[in-house]
Amino acid sequence: MITPSSAGKTTLLALVTLFIAVLDSAVGGGDGHEWGYDDHNGPKKWAGTCKSGLFQSPIDLKQSISHLRNFEPLVFFLYDKPANVTMKNNGHTLKLTFEQSCVAQMAGGGLPAAFSLAQIHFHWGSEHTLNGRRYPLEAHFVHYNHKRYDSLGAAVGKEDGLAVLGVFYEESSEEADNGIVDKLLEHLARVSDEGAEFKMTSKMRAEELFPEDIDKFFRYRGSLTTPECNEGVLWTVLEKTVPISSAQVYMIKSFPRQIFACKSSNTTSLSGFEVYLWQ
Ligand SMILES: *[C@@H]1O[C@H](CO)[C@@H](O)[C@H](O)[C@H]1NC(C)=O
Ligand SMILES: *[C@@H]1O[C@H](CO)[C@@H](O)[C@H](O)[C@H]1NC(C)=O
Ligand SMILES: [Zn+2]
Repeated sequence: MITPSSAGKTTLLALVTLFIAVLDSAVGGGDGHEWGYDDHNGPKKWAGTCKSGLFQSPIDLKQSISHLRNFEPLVFFLYDKPANVTMKNNGHTLKLTFEQSCVAQMAGGGLPAAFSLAQIHFHWGSEHTLNGRRYPLEAHFVHYNHKRYDSLGAAVGKEDGLAVLGVFYEESSEEADNGIVDKLLEHLARVSDEGAEFKMTSKMRAEELFPEDIDKFFRYRGSLTTPECNEGVLWTVLEKTVPISSAQVYMIKSFPRQIFACKSSNTTSLSGFEVYLWQ
């Protein structure tokens, strides 16, 4: 049963405001982006590697076609440390950056190195699917190999340059509102304009965005899912999902597609992809 909380009502208001803001900018002559998620500039129109690449993400993950591996467990450093977080509407997605004196890292799990967390962002409508199933929300934790490259930008498109962690959020009728998702939804109105930033008023731990257990995960080499769609990305996608409430899914689905959207798989055959499932 869903009892709309006062936070929910605030969020609904925020949504209306956001929607009007987006309409405004559309009427006012477009957002100036070369790529987006509309018919005229969406994934079907993306060029270069996005079209011709051989290892393009996302893909449909399946236990049945995956090679089972016993990687050592994933290890997360400083994901448990409360940090100041800035939310940003970059015109394509909601992006979170963590301000920490020492940067959070992901390692282990068969990764060739430790990778530093650069940003977290969201796709409303998951990009990866699990056994053909699309979830309402997918978070991407973007990391780069800081031993080999100075910055995220320098690591893009390089062998072993990027490691992205994908987490699915699943609708659950029994669940209460997911606290951390509510916190994000609640502040969205503050970043309704493209380029707008908002420093969250309370600290957040990156691991709050994780499911209960992170033991099982898929691993494969793919690409970024936004132009230039650079390949060489080491993907880790957790098999376990994070439950969110039906009310939250409803709110997420009401967002305008041009800000929060996803690239669907254009991979008709998974031959060539080596997908591993750790268990
Ligand atoms: C899928 O990729 C092929 C090239 O591999 C391209 O010709 C086709 O237009 C793409 N389809 C979509 C839906 O993006
Ligand atoms: C977090 O933000 C608060 C308030 O803006 C600031 O006083 C504090 O120094 C920040 N902490 C870190 C570690 O950046
Ligand atoms: Zn992404």
